[in-house]
Amino acid sequence: MDFYVNPHVKNMERIFPMQGRYDYQRYDMNENPEGLPHWFVQEVLAEITPAYLSIYPEPQRFIEKYAEFLQVRPENVTVTNGSDQAIRYLLQVFGQEGGDCVTVAPSFEMYWVNCKLLGINHIPISYEEDLSFDMEKLLDAITPKTNIVVLLNPNNPVGNAFSRDEVEAVVAKAEACGAVVIIDEAYHYFFDTTFLDLAISRPNVIVLRTFSKLFSLAACRIGTVIADPQIIHYVNNLKLTFDVNAIALKFAEHILDHPAMIHELISSEKEGRRWILRALTNLGYHVRRCEGNFIFIEPKNPAFEVARALEANKVLVKSWNSGDLSRFIRVSTGSKEAMEKFLDAFLEADS
Ligand SMILES: Cc1ncc(COP(=O)(O)O)c(C=O)c1O
Repeated sequence: MDFYVNPHVKNMERIFPMQGRYDYQRYDMNENPEGLPHWFVQEVLAEITPAYLSIYPEPQRFIEKYAEFLQVRPENVTVTNGSDQAIRYLLQVFGQEGGDCVTVAPSFEMYWVNCKLLGINHIPISYEEDLSFDMEKLLDAITPKTNIVVLLNPNNPVGNAFSRDEVEAVVAKAEACGAVVIIDEAYHYFFDTTFLDLAISRPNVIVLRTFSKLFSLAACRIGTVIADPQIIHYVNNLKLTFDVNAIALKFAEHILDHPAMIHELISSEKEGRRWILRALTNLGYHVRRCEGNFIFIEPKNPAFEVARALEANKVLVKSWNSGDLSRFIRVSTGSKEAMEKFLDAFLEADS
């Protein structure tokens, strides 16, 4: 039967994440391998009453609390169904069919997926073979045809971070060319530097944050956009009325009530990452320290085979079939206990 299908959607080939991961040790998607404390989950669940479930979600209370937490104004913030949805919204609002979106490459896949779905020209600026990045190439790629520039700070999957001078040069060039700059800070807290100050002081800078990484709520799907009120207004115009669910909002609000738990999450991951890097280095492995909650390991055997052997033992890591990253496995980091478990499995798989 002949009916119209949006050609961008028709020609897309999506690969969705593996299902059935609950029974595995999970070091493949930069989640917290262990999750939040049990007492915390119980505390939140106690507030999810039949009445609460019967009411449409009200995000404003969360937005106000979160704005105070970040020390910005509520007008600078909107909340989305994960950063995933924020990326879609931003590309819809600021991208143009046939216009350019400049990103580093490799990068988080949803940037190129959404470019393709929306008919935006994706201009990927590749890392060098040694995984360094030539910022001049990215600056040269920003032209009057550019609508959006994307920086991930730190980057996923490469794990590097950009300096303030580099980011300011990108923002200035984008401003001169009439483009917005998205700074995706999904891995903030594992790495301290932030460009939040630019998001609230410059009209074209947008910071994205997520509750899926340090805050360990990937299942809830909650992300935030922080920017000038005008940008937030445009995103809110596009938004679905109830895109973030009330259970996610409740969990996220409670996280903000527990600064000591946040501090513990940060220090526990830092300790685990330090421990695994030292242990692997002492064992003679080449490891690449990354600025997010993940590391790269160059196994003695081919990386892809080691990933397969780990999977057979119910341990998931990220690997690549080809390209500059294919000699590595990427391993999400967590507490020292989580890393000890991983190391035992890894040494067996790479024997
Ligand atoms: C850089 C980056 N941005 C955004 C996301 C998506 O996060 P969310 O779970 O909030 O959709 C990820 C997930 O891995 C990521 O690595």
